Amino acid sequence: MVRTSILNMLRNYSNEYLSGEEISRQLAVSRTAIWKHMQTLKQAGYEIEAHPRKGYRLKSVPDFLLPDEIRDQLNTKILGQQEIYYFEDIDSTNNEAKKQANLGCREGAIVLSEMQNSGRGRISRSWFSPANKGIWLSVVLRPPFYPYDAPKCTLLAAVAVTKAIRRVTQVKCGIKWPNDILYEGKKIVGILTEMNAEMDAINHVVIGMGINVNISPEEFPQELKQIATSLLVAAGKPIPRLPLLQEILVELEREYQKVIQHGFGQMLDEWRELSVTLGQTVDVIGGSKQFSGLAVDIDEDGTLLVETEGRLEKIIAGDVSIRPRHK
Ligand code: BTN
Repeated sequence: MVRTSILNMLRNYSNEYLSGEEISRQLAVSRTAIWKHMQTLKQAGYEIEAHPRKGYRLKSVPDFLLPDEIRDQLNTKILGQQEIYYFEDIDSTNNEAKKQANLGCREGAIVLSEMQNSGRGRISRSWFSPANKGIWLSVVLRPPFYPYDAPKCTLLAAVAVTKAIRRVTQVKCGIKWPNDILYEGKKIVGILTEMNAEMDAINHVVIGMGINVNISPEEFPQELKQIATSLLVAAGKPIPRLPLLQEILVELEREYQKVIQHGFGQMLDEWRELSVTLGQTVDVIGGSKQFSGLAVDIDEDGTLLVETEGRLEKIIAGDVSIRPRHK
């Protein structure tokens, strides 16, 4: 695509000017066409300086999660390398990812939207997804595991996202079993994993991740104000979304490859280290059994082990919620 080539050329020249004549010669397109592409790029948020004699210079790129920007210097082999489905607005990236997966998209395809008008959370909840303020992302995997191992994709994603956030923003967030990432007790990330499988093989898994990046406290709806927060609040400054997204994709791929090559053991150990649930007294609610106990470990199958009245209860995600016990 001409626009992508123009951008790549501008990037390569970084601080210098690139003449319209040079672009026109290299890409075999007219100067008028180039001018039009420059206008479109400016409208998309690229800051491009145009000098009458020297030509064009790229001053800054927008904080949009545009496919070309994501691919630029993306250090992955499969995630986001081939198919990136990008939207300004969509109902839910998970819905779109499932659609693409059913149509046969490749493993590693990702779906992103600047906002979601019907973002979905666990247990039929909705997910607040305002425009340009978060990362609303779904990744399609086709794992060679048995279907009963699929819930561990959620744990794997939680480990990857926590590591990426810590590395890029220095925010010391932790994982609440099974799929929330919290900062000071408030939710910063939610993960929704959905699967399509036969009895003995997975067709695809869609891992949906909602990361509250630059949402200010007043922007959260009333019902979320006490329970949700964002990286902006935690870090005390706005966080550029693009490098964070790239790091999430890198970490997710790394964890996934590790699991494929060596099994789940190492990932589960990392999960234990990053957990804010283990060692806490928790209330187990919403299932047939309601009780409180000490969260002691996660089992090899990803279930939470809660010690209560001298015995260990296995808690399966999806059946119940847990909440820390308020003393
Ligand atoms: C939860 O904590 O309940 C899970 C929230 C998952 C939200 C993400 S945002 C991207 C993807 N698309 C959706 O509709 N949901 C997930």
